[in-house]
Amino acid sequence: MLDLSYVRGQFPAFAEPSLQGQAFFENAGGSYTCQPVIDRLFRFYHQRKVQPYAPYPAAQAGGAEMDEARTRLAGLLNIAPDELSFGPSTSQNIYVLSQAVREAMRPGEAIIVTNQDHEANSGAWRRLADHGIEVREWKVDPETGHLDPAELEPLLDESVRLVCFPHCSNVVGEINPVAEITALAHAAGAWVCVDGVSYAPHGFPDVDALGCDIYLFSAYKTYGPHQGIMAIRRELANLLPNQAHSFNGDTLYKKFIPAGPDHAQVAACAGMVDYIEALATHQGVSPREVAGLMHAHEVALMQPLLDYLGTKNSVRLLGPTDAARRAPTVAVALQRPAEGVARDLAQHGIMAGGGDFYAVRPLQAMGIDTGKGVLRLSFVHYTSPDEVDQLLAALDAVL
Ligand SMILES: Cc1ncc(COP(=O)(O)O)c(C=O)c1O
Repeated sequence: MLDLSYVRGQFPAFAEPSLQGQAFFENAGGSYTCQPVIDRLFRFYHQRKVQPYAPYPAAQAGGAEMDEARTRLAGLLNIAPDELSFGPSTSQNIYVLSQAVREAMRPGEAIIVTNQDHEANSGAWRRLADHGIEVREWKVDPETGHLDPAELEPLLDESVRLVCFPHCSNVVGEINPVAEITALAHAAGAWVCVDGVSYAPHGFPDVDALGCDIYLFSAYKTYGPHQGIMAIRRELANLLPNQAHSFNGDTLYKKFIPAGPDHAQVAACAGMVDYIEALATHQGVSPREVAGLMHAHEVALMQPLLDYLGTKNSVRLLGPTDAARRAPTVAVALQRPAEGVARDLAQHGIMAGGGDFYAVRPLQAMGIDTGKGVLRLSFVHYTSPDEVDQLLAALDAVL
């Protein structure tokens, strides 16, 4: 069982006087930052704020910390260190990848996108239609938002080069069977790009076991700094054309990052691994088994919330009602604009948001008025039963 007081002790936000009494339910927008990340950022800005990798001690230490972050994160994700790149954000990482894929494809070839994705893993790919690439849409069930692998199969043929889908949508919350979908796509000869942004905060995945060619997530939602993290497997990375400075094209972790890296933030990403490893040691499990502990805690807290929302006639709950099948990113459509409801919840010490969360396509696909948007209640493993009770009481008062 997850030791919640140990977990919360690793996040300074829980000891911050100005946040006392405020229960945080907008974690899908960005999580609290763990102490090791803050410590590493502080150290970098105090002691290493020079051009990294230059031949003087501060630069050597800074460069070594950047390498350490990449190597240790890659280890956690079960990929090689040069298969992991840091970019400014997942949206930008996907945009750059879409340019590489465009150059690698021929007109008449096809890609598959979903209408369950956040716009980041959708719009950039769809724009390839302007370059003669056929874009096919794998559609959700309009009632439930469910993405059915059986609906993907008829879309796959020999002209499809790439299938893009989310590990978990940021409004539907259902966990998609990545390994199964990847196997289908690979059998048809297509690459696979998975948006893991909404999933990774609930347990860093074993990317090798998932089998996908590209896996992306955002460190500012996984207890770290504002970085986009991108795993690209070697075989595909070698095939795609360089998007960076010409002389950087032979280094996989530089090849798809045209921007200069944010040195301090890259280095601070090692703090996410410090946190997971320390938690694993404390709990007597391996770092990869931490995900199971997080999941069990989240499911136990989420089921009463789903049950409560399911009883409200005025509320349309998106995604599965069975907590085990989803992440605790719980969106509901209401009769009035969600932003106003979020404002009312704030009066009760609940930090939550309302709107479209850049998931305009999935909301429209489910027939939801994007003008009203959805109220999103999202939490992670550091959330306590007391905070969920505070949320339920607040919902009772405002709904
Ligand atoms: C599911 C999902 N994908 C992609 C993104 C975009 O990530 P970034 O802000 O790093 O561009 C978000 C951001 O909210 C998201 O929720």
